[in-house]
Amino acid sequence: MVIEAWPASRQAWERTKASLSGGVSTGLRASMKPHPLFFRGGSGPRLTDLDGNSYVDYVLGWGPVILGHGHPKLTAAVAAQLPYGSTYGAGHLLEAEAAEAVLARIPGTERVLWCSTGSEANLVALRLARAATGRRRFIKFGGHYHGWTDPMLIGYRPGPDGTLGLGSLGQNPATLDDVRLVAWGDLDTTAGLLTTSGTDIAAVFCEPVLCNSGVLEPPPGFLEGLRELCDDTGTVLVFDEVITGFRIDSGGAVTRYGVTPDLVVLAKAIAGGFPLAAVAGRADILDRTTAGVVHAGTYNGNPVVLAAAIATLEALGEPGVYDDFERRGRALADGMRAAFARYDVPVTVHQVGPVVQCLPGVRKARTFDDFLAADQEFYDRLTVQLLRRGVFTLPGGRWYLSTAHTDADIAETVAVIDESLGATLDEGPGPRVSTA
Ligand SMILES: Cc1ncc(COP(=O)(O)O)c(C=O)c1O
Repeated sequence: MVIEAWPASRQAWERTKASLSGGVSTGLRASMKPHPLFFRGGSGPRLTDLDGNSYVDYVLGWGPVILGHGHPKLTAAVAAQLPYGSTYGAGHLLEAEAAEAVLARIPGTERVLWCSTGSEANLVALRLARAATGRRRFIKFGGHYHGWTDPMLIGYRPGPDGTLGLGSLGQNPATLDDVRLVAWGDLDTTAGLLTTSGTDIAAVFCEPVLCNSGVLEPPPGFLEGLRELCDDTGTVLVFDEVITGFRIDSGGAVTRYGVTPDLVVLAKAIAGGFPLAAVAGRADILDRTTAGVVHAGTYNGNPVVLAAAIATLEALGEPGVYDDFERRGRALADGMRAAFARYDVPVTVHQVGPVVQCLPGVRKARTFDDFLAADQEFYDRLTVQLLRRGVFTLPGGRWYLSTAHTDADIAETVAVIDESLGATLDEGPGPRVSTA
């Protein structure tokens, strides 16, 4: 069956537009094609919308739902905690239990600091780095996303004039001077900035795999090079593992690539869909929160959310989880490549564990510019055809797998990709092909 329209979702959107700005809770969701969908629930790898349609879900809440929807042990852990109250604003033992679980999984980390979102976790990491070094600026790489706050949003996407800089109306232009932007993988420029006297750089921030802009792995030796440069210059190295943490390996990029930063920023997968974020890392940096660095948050260390984190990390620790992620991720990526090849449509597909990226019209993607060259309009049309056939995906080309996705789900999805690609090509032109 091919879905023709989503009347109940459409109606729900009309209703929510009257009370919520844009009819959505996060601006980006308004861009989902053909219009935002509204769901009644999920189970395992599937979601059911208000019209009663069922989808294999590769959005997974934009990443956090790493165990699938309604995972029994996660649900039980949260349900067991709920009768004891929602938050205390004071200490309880789940704080340490969850922190110990994080420290045990990420080598080189000595302390954890809890917060609720990845955006605030990155901001406090920056503040800690400034306090630890007595310097002000930071290096970030073009296309890397570290949340929506003023300093961090700089350089995420090109502005209307095509240049990388401010990303939002209302963003303080003074923050531009805090940031030195570098192309992902350019160690020479990074070295030049770090070793020039007076550049005043406190920290280097990166997504160790550039998941937000093409799932671009670090070039060989690059993370090691950053580590060495930061060691030589007393600069704080921050891995923003909001996406990669506990997803691309048991200790995220730290264990996958064997490079230990000074601070690791965590969110999304850490609590299986509940709002938790963290900064983990060196005690001498993190302990500054008791020595003059202000970090606060009413919901920090919330017991319900920490119960979710403990259950999620336990489930991710079961044997074979990361091997299965790798194998199923590869099966999805290979299936996608085969479908595009069958229709003779150029594509680049990247895969790192359970994260897959589809870049139509691009023959090879190594840089942020290569990612930007992908034909997003074509991809949008493809996502609608996928949706019509029961596969729910993110805009922009990234796919997430959960532990609940089976080999059969992947095989079914690969067949749907093939059919949907055919339908996309039947209704309009193929992707604009990048000449790069
Ligand atoms: C790498 C990265 N860092 C930070 C963030 C911000 O996290 P949050 O949306 O929880 O504020 C995101 C969100 O997608 C992310 O992908």
